[in-house]
Amino acid sequence: MNTPPSELQAEPVTAAELRAIAALADLSEPDLAWIAGQCSAYTLEEGQALFQQHDPAEHMHFLLEGELEVCGSDPEGQPVAYRVRQGEVSGQLPHSRMTEFSGSGRAVGRTRIAVFPAARFTDLLQRVPVLESRLVAVMTGRVREQTRAQEQQARMLALGRLAAGLAHELNNPASAIRRTAADLRARLRTLPELVAALCEAGVSRTHLQQLEALSEQVRQRPSRPLGTLERSELEDTLSDRLEDWGVACGAELADTFVDVGLSVQDLEALPAETAEAREVGLRWLALTLAADKALEDVDQSSERIARLIGSVKTYSHMDRAATFEEVDLRAGLESTLTMLAHKVRERGVTVRTEYEPDLPPVRGFGGELNQVWTNLIDNALDALEPGGRIRVTARRHGEQVAVTVEDNGPGIAPEVQQCIFEPFFTTKPVGQGSGLGLDISHSIVTRRHGGSLQVDSRPGRTVFTVLLPLRGPQEAPA
Ligand SMILES: Nc1ncnc2c1ncn2[C@@H]1O[C@H](COP(=O)(O)OP(=O)(O)O)[C@@H](O)[C@H]1O
Ligand SMILES: [Mg+2]
Repeated sequence: MNTPPSELQAEPVTAAELRAIAALADLSEPDLAWIAGQCSAYTLEEGQALFQQHDPAEHMHFLLEGELEVCGSDPEGQPVAYRVRQGEVSGQLPHSRMTEFSGSGRAVGRTRIAVFPAARFTDLLQRVPVLESRLVAVMTGRVREQTRAQEQQARMLALGRLAAGLAHELNNPASAIRRTAADLRARLRTLPELVAALCEAGVSRTHLQQLEALSEQVRQRPSRPLGTLERSELEDTLSDRLEDWGVACGAELADTFVDVGLSVQDLEALPAETAEAREVGLRWLALTLAADKALEDVDQSSERIARLIGSVKTYSHMDRAATFEEVDLRAGLESTLTMLAHKVRERGVTVRTEYEPDLPPVRGFGGELNQVWTNLIDNALDALEPGGRIRVTARRHGEQVAVTVEDNGPGIAPEVQQCIFEPFFTTKPVGQGSGLGLDISHSIVTRRHGGSLQVDSRPGRTVFTVLLPLRGPQEAPA
């Protein structure tokens, strides 16, 4: 495609129009008139394109009126999206290595743009030398903005992964609650029939009181986890005894009794007026105990959910503004590990933590420090095979606190170690690593907290050490 597209009508540009461009505002009238003479202007309607992705970049653009939206992707496949506003310069710039547009540019509302041919850049800079540094500044600003956008994207990606892990963690207790509630409902539906049977069998008040006393006794007992074998043996003994007594659905009752920790001896100690009374009595006992157990399970699952939500709050510091504050590093590390628990389990890795008992708080930005812990632990997890180990420690070192994240993975080759803190350096496949984790962590630790981030690595032992001054940075954080 021709850029600008041939269906657009080229119009003359006046020096007065160009004066609205910030970078040109103070130029002399003759200089502006000369530039205007080199330009053509185009008026675009909403949505109309000035250029397409991959079109050769042969013009500098002056946004006279309206706005241009650019969308596409760079050669590495990173998305590109930005807007050029009224009064701004964009497109090809002097000294830029750009050869083609990385995205398509479309008008947002009615837009008027003056285009200046790149072929005349040498003449332009000779005639108006002051433009050189200004246009280079436009270019570096553009690069900085793009980097910031990519950092933001990397953060969102990391956050998305954490959210996915957390969703898994929440899913277990949540589905346990649903399952238990369904089970409880089914059991409670048998209640009217059971009460009728109790009446018909003429179960006495004393008998019911004895059953209640046994229930209470069982509730008080500490529950003991059973192995599969032990459990099936207990179940067999119980269902044999129930069968001896001629109890229908004995196996089902035995299952519940084992669940709640009831033994054959317990049952034998129960007096029975008639076989019929014993049977409904036992069904009553099973129902009340099972209901009780179900409620306890629901309680535990809800508590687990509440704890996870608590971790999310601690982790994100979402109940607080991002201000400089006293940060409890232990709480931050623990909540980070909770957020990563799913990945830890998935990788089959064990994590050991060692915190100095009276670890003092550090002045800093809690949410940002948690990002650092996340990046370091996440990298360790990526480096490990199943069975690998991670050790996280936090200790006081004079007027600093040292946090270390150590793994027993393959380590980082010496020539690679020099690059790992650089932005976009990654050894991971596309889509898995952004190469920004350590760069962002480094700037959070050094620039925001006045600390240091160092690595010591050899095969089988990689340690990242973060040193944070207790009193925060001596100067205002950048
Ligand atoms: N614990 C570690 N063990 C081995 N290599 C690591 C470790 N931590 C970081 N690295 C290396 O440093 C590179 C850069 O890390 P990072 O900046 O977090 O980006 P990313 O994780 O997206 O690749 C990684 O790709 C990896 O090669
Ligand atoms: Mg990383």
